Amino acid sequence: MIALCSAFAETHPRIATPMSHLDDLIRRFCAQRDMLNTALGLLRVENFDPSLIAVELGLGSGRSYDHLREAIGGRALYAFDFEVATHPGFEPPGEYLVLGDILERFPEFARARQAMACLVHVDIGTRDRVTDARRYAALIPAIEQICVPDAIVVSDRPLATPGLDAIGPGAAPGEWPYFLYRRRTA
Ligand SMILES: C[S@@+](CC[C@H](N)C(=O)[O-])C[C@H]1O[C@@H](n2cnc3c(N)ncnc32)[C@H](O)[C@@H]1O
Repeated sequence: MIALCSAFAETHPRIATPMSHLDDLIRRFCAQRDMLNTALGLLRVENFDPSLIAVELGLGSGRSYDHLREAIGGRALYAFDFEVATHPGFEPPGEYLVLGDILERFPEFARARQAMACLVHVDIGTRDRVTDARRYAALIPAIEQICVPDAIVVSDRPLATPGLDAIGPGAAPGEWPYFLYRRRTA
């Protein structure tokens, strides 16, 4: 999928040099979809136990939630946000929806579900990278706690911790940065 977007960029050079908010949005969505698809491919290859759960931090309009929901079949997918603001039809079932401040709710949730997740997607970034760095750092212990060894973590901001190994080379110049990690085994 990365190749698909890159090919598009080559024939549409403005994508490589953003000219507009629309260009930026397209780059972001391409990067997000490509990373989610890469993560889903890695999970299939490794054939994780179907009883393990997946987690979406930042439900938003439900775009990436819907993408994951389509791909993971019957696996339980929990979504977190302050409130439900999805497009109609993208609301998670009540038992898989956790409302409130993720910085409080997710650590509680992870404490009760240690080593139970095979996939975590974090998408709560803002334009304030300094605040983001603090918030993402605060989430790392809970992410490490909920992930089974070799679980895949996808994030719109970097997660710097020895417990997560970065996968892949990272974004090339001109690409929107999106981050992929594997939970370290020991
Ligand atoms: C970029 S949007 C997510 C977009 C979503 N993944 C999608 O594809 O539609 C970020 C979301 O994270 C939520 N969010 C950010 N910080 C949060 C926090 N501390 N607690 C709960 N929700 C939060 C916002 O309310 C917003 O809906």
